[in-house]
Amino acid sequence: MTRIYSIDRQPRTYDIVLTPMEAIWFGRRRRKLLSGLKGHVLDIGSGTGANLGYYPETVECVTVIDPSHDNIRYLKRKARGGGWGVEGGRCLRSRLGFGEKLPFRSNSFDNVVSTLILCTVEDPSAVISEGVRVLKKGGKFIFIEHQLPRLWPQALLFKALTPLWRAPSGCNLNRHTEDEIRKRREIRNSYFERWGPVLGYPFFAGVYERR
Ligand SMILES: C[S@@+](CC[C@H](N)C(=O)[O-])C[C@H]1O[C@@H](n2cnc3c(N)ncnc32)[C@H](O)[C@@H]1O
Repeated sequence: MTRIYSIDRQPRTYDIVLTPMEAIWFGRRRRKLLSGLKGHVLDIGSGTGANLGYYPETVECVTVIDPSHDNIRYLKRKARGGGWGVEGGRCLRSRLGFGEKLPFRSNSFDNVVSTLILCTVEDPSAVISEGVRVLKKGGKFIFIEHQLPRLWPQALLFKALTPLWRAPSGCNLNRHTEDEIRKRREIRNSYFERWGPVLGYPFFAGVYERR
């Protein structure tokens, strides 16, 4: 099963590193894709809780799951400041665990969220299958991820950089994540965006609905 990499033992550092990327790339995509959600959300590989600030009031409860003790502890502390998981506040449940084997019943969540994790998990295919399994019919599976660039010069560079980048972070720059999602017959795409022309379009965001 997945190792815990050094970045996942240093949640504060992760937040600092992520801040400029949130401003340039991710923040507005999180807002766009998460702001319409309702009901019970499962946030797989929740990390330091980057998505929490974007869940609207129509989200009744968020369950976060992550294999890093440090991330879960940090997320819960940070979340309390935003009124999550406190008496009279918003419902937050947390579990220590892996996306490849979710400890939840089938068809139990209204939405499943996967942001910046399919590059890191040991087995992205198993994580997608598990996400689909726990998602209710008609529920949304939201992805904001990155993968091997679509343009070949950048793809060559990303392949060469992967071992160096992966060592501290566990993050693989060379996966074909979009193809892995697209081949699922149990989910239907309703929104898709790819971005990052200078980097060869490594980023994508998608909304899929459980059939
Ligand atoms: C790059 S961070 C993304 C965190 C957050 N989702 C975000 O959007 O900022 C990757 C997260 O995936 C978690 N992770 C690593 N392996 C995992 C696995 N097998 N299942 C679930 N989460 C995993 C790490 O602990 C880390 O918190």
